[in-house]
Amino acid sequence: MSHIRGRFSKAAGKLVAEYTASIPVDLRLYPYDIAGSIAHAKMLAKQGIISEKEATVITEGLGSIRGEIEQGKFQFKTELEDIHMNIEARLIKKVGEIGRKLHTARSRNDQVALDLRLFAKEAISDTLARLKKFQRALISLAEANKGVVMPGYTHLQPAQPVLLAHHLLAYFEMLKRDASRFSDCLKRVDVMPLGSGALAGVAYNVDRDFLARELGFSQISQNSIDAVSDRDFVMEYEAAASLCMMHLSRLAEEIILWSSEVFNFVELDEAYATGSSIMPQKKNPDVAELVRGKTGRVYGRLMALLTTMKALPLSYNRDLQEDKEGFFDTVDTILATLEVFTGMLKTLQIKAESTERAVERGYILATDLADYLVKKGEAFWSARSIVARLWSYAM
Ligand code: ARG
Repeated sequence: MSHIRGRFSKAAGKLVAEYTASIPVDLRLYPYDIAGSIAHAKMLAKQGIISEKEATVITEGLGSIRGEIEQGKFQFKTELEDIHMNIEARLIKKVGEIGRKLHTARSRNDQVALDLRLFAKEAISDTLARLKKFQRALISLAEANKGVVMPGYTHLQPAQPVLLAHHLLAYFEMLKRDASRFSDCLKRVDVMPLGSGALAGVAYNVDRDFLARELGFSQISQNSIDAVSDRDFVMEYEAAASLCMMHLSRLAEEIILWSSEVFNFVELDEAYATGSSIMPQKKNPDVAELVRGKTGRVYGRLMALLTTMKALPLSYNRDLQEDKEGFFDTVDTILATLEVFTGMLKTLQIKAESTERAVERGYILATDLADYLVKKGEAFWSARSIVARLWSYAM
């Protein structure tokens, strides 16, 4: 009986360890975790909390652990739950007792908040760089097709002729707003949380300004209870990403329409389209469809974290561990989307004869004709009704 019980509880133990572990997801935080620990060790030595020699042993040990991870030699263990404990356990194994001093004056709660903020800062700068490249591709496409006229639409009905460049640069404006949202989010990410401890601060004379300088933060957090339980910055990024994906999805939708036989305004490069297995004449806009499709996934990540957090009492709760998978996926999805979409734009062929032919259909110059009559002295509403009669006669 006890034998069976023993086996049972072992199996449950393994199940629980797997259920609660975050290592499969948070191992990618290792560069930030190590950078944070190195800064922390230096600060502890500077404040006389550990000796300079101990700090050197710790920082060298951490440096060589970084090497092990980069070379794929590091053995991540589920039992050790997360990246913080995996690295620390390895440090203790490597340098012995001194390694046990690194966790003085900190908790995993402020540690994980720090790591995530360091990750977020890099994610924002990568996102801004890719947004800029995308905007450049929009400008190049507009410039290469400067004189091209196309129907402008409202209600997806041909409304008035516009320049293709005018239409494309509408997206430039959307992405400009997106970039400003990401930059704004950076201001609130750029806050150093170490020194908060588990929630109540730490009982040592730590130098938080030194930590902030060492880690490249412009501010330190003001309230330790808030600092360990705040994930606003993750949701702000996800919200900015959702808006940005919505913009990209609208352009993707237009490219899907424009590349269809019905519009026939653009030709997608083969690299960004696929054939059909049974219909050899087909060229499907799969990349654009996936941009549109992945947008739903990014919205979902935002809703998931908002929901996870809506009833959490202060301060840290383990629920917060659920923040990372969605955040990483959002960053990966938007970065990949921007990169692939930039390539698609760069290779997009505009069929000017076709957009210009479309302008000739649908009496798209009706408003211009009314404006012409106004300039000849007609009141606008009268001019409009003259043009309406003309239209009905022509029909
Ligand atoms: N793995 C945890 C997370 O990602 C790290 C913090 C754990 N803190 C704790 N008190 N169990 O949120």
